[in-house]
Amino acid sequence: MTIGPNIQAFFDEPTHTVTYLVSDPATGQAAVIDPVLDYDHPSGEVDTRSLATVLAAAEAGGLTVVWALETHVHADHLSGAPYIKLRTGAAIGIGEHVRDVQRIFRPIFNAEDVKADGSDFDKLFADGERFGIGALEVEVLHTPGHTPADVSYRIGDAVFVGDTLFMPDYGTARADFPGGDARQLYRSIRKLLDLPPETRLFLCHDYKAPGRDAYCWETTVQDQRKTSVHVHDGVTEDAFVKMRTERDATLSAPALLIPSIQVNIRAGKFPPAEANGVSYLMIPVKPKVGD
Ligand SMILES: [Fe+2]
Repeated sequence: MTIGPNIQAFFDEPTHTVTYLVSDPATGQAAVIDPVLDYDHPSGEVDTRSLATVLAAAEAGGLTVVWALETHVHADHLSGAPYIKLRTGAAIGIGEHVRDVQRIFRPIFNAEDVKADGSDFDKLFADGERFGIGALEVEVLHTPGHTPADVSYRIGDAVFVGDTLFMPDYGTARADFPGGDARQLYRSIRKLLDLPPETRLFLCHDYKAPGRDAYCWETTVQDQRKTSVHVHDGVTEDAFVKMRTERDATLSAPALLIPSIQVNIRAGKFPPAEANGVSYLMIPVKPKVGD
């Protein structure tokens, strides 16, 4: 008999992100998925209080954190993976196509220290690769579209889907970041929705759909196929691409896009310190041509 993972969710309201602590009941080994570093953009202040909450829960449960897993290079929060690694010795894993994301953003941020070979991370996962969290087997599913490198982690009857699907009443992730592709996103979503109907899907974000008062981050394949406002059964690829493209054209940049990308392509590390010992995040200025 397969025993499923224990799952604890930690919702970060400022960034609407869910961090998961996933553990194997048999061995007590655990993974932290999509850890959030607290970051105040106006002041540049960084804090680890949210990460401390996750690690305290791990300690209370007698768990050994062996992985810090990213579903993708996030554009809305700074990764706390290095702090998880520092405190526990966990290895930082992400999909192997992170190299493409690094290649795209390295010139934009003049990030010469990023080698764009994925070596900032400890482990790069290929599509279909399997690894363990104790006795739990994790299957990596490459689910690109939101970014080229998105992966979902399937553990027993649970899948951590990153930014592909949101709650059925909210829809799907945007696909307009550099390297994003609405058609790919549709195909990745169909791949997830081909899993057994009772499969539990754990989301990376929730924003409360209009009319809903509580944050939610767990749904099922069945629920998505029946009621997703964007991808219920019967929505064709072309119809989805049209909807997604039109909707993305109305969305503004996430508040933490620029700091997040610079840190997250470095596996959560800040850019190398300048001669004065201080690390800086940069803003590429884009003058309007004309006038
Ligand atoms: Fe994202």
